[in-house]
Amino acid sequence: MVFFETAATVVFDINFIVQIIIIALVIFGVTQKPDRRRHGSIMAIALIINLVSFAIVMLPQLFFKWDVLVHYNFAAIILIHAIIGAVAISSGLIFSIRFLIFLRRKDPLNCGTKMEMRLVNLSWLVSFILGVVFYFIFYTTISAT
Ligand code: HEM
Repeated sequence: MVFFETAATVVFDINFIVQIIIIALVIFGVTQKPDRRRHGSIMAIALIINLVSFAIVMLPQLFFKWDVLVHYNFAAIILIHAIIGAVAISSGLIFSIRFLIFLRRKDPLNCGTKMEMRLVNLSWLVSFILGVVFYFIFYTTISAT
């Protein structure tokens, strides 16, 4: 709509921008790995913002828009996006909770293995890319019809 001249209303434009800010935060957080306290805090903040956007925008839209998504053949992309995104959010939540517990107990901040961290970051990135692809294709398709 206002921002990118697609048919998206302002809520989805804002969600889109918020998601870009979050992914920038996640990438910045990854670069801060040597300082685990800093890294964990940045990732936990990114996760909290994403949980809010998930709860207020994405989850309700999955149900409200379902018929429209099916009608325009976007159900598959959104379902894959949602499943991979759910993996990212739930595993990120586990690491963030562990981080906060270890921080409180002053335990070493070993919140997950390297492999597990890679899984969260990769699923987050893939879900983000699918969301961006969805945003541009869906909102230009519906404005053209
Ligand atoms: C790391 C996790 C996730 C990321 C990075 C992410 C990112 C995005 C992005 C960039 C968009 C496009 C902006 C928009 O249209 O509002 C989007 C849309 C959407 N996402 Fe996610 N998302 C994630 C998790 C999820 C999950 C778990 C669900 C499950 C309900 C979900 C469902 C949706 C839906 C239904 C839309 C379309 C919203 C609309 O425009 O109507 N997303 N997501």
